Amino acid sequence: MEYIRNHWYVAGFASEFGEGFTTATILEEEIVLYRSSDGTVVALEDRCPHRALPLSMGKRIGDQVQCGYHGLTFGTDGRCVRVPGQRSVPPQAWVRRYPTHERHGIVWIWMGAEDAADPALVFDMPEFTNPGWAAHQGEALEFESNYLNVAGSRAGKSSTCLKPSCLL
Ligand code: FES
Repeated sequence: MEYIRNHWYVAGFASEFGEGFTTATILEEEIVLYRSSDGTVVALEDRCPHRALPLSMGKRIGDQVQCGYHGLTFGTDGRCVRVPGQRSVPPQAWVRRYPTHERHGIVWIWMGAEDAADPALVFDMPEFTNPGWAAHQGEALEFESNYLNVAGSRAGKSSTCLKPSCLL
């Protein structure tokens, strides 16, 4: 399937990412994400280049990820930094790294060419941080309203307009 690659996608709410691994499938690509010691969210291809074990089955060593099978270790840039039992690291031992950016409590991930990732292109939603608005982060938001409002609102598949004028 063809996807629009050079675009920011939502990886999840910022609160979903911590020291442990979180996995996501975005544009049919398996990705492992975790928050590094400087607070940024690291996103790497979740597939070891050696024998394809998901890196999310491994463990963290500081900000690096060690594969759970034979122990290849990868840095936050996706490059292998250590191969157990040998001094050199093969140049082909790397996984894809995805740029991320955090805005409005959301972690965005860039799925295209890394040098085209411009944080200024992240979808802007100033209402998320405007105290005059209340942003709901979670599953479905239930509220009592006339059922005709559902058809009358600008409801999308995953969002409903909650401006007072839409609830009349
Ligand atoms: S499969 Fe990852 S080190 Fe072998």
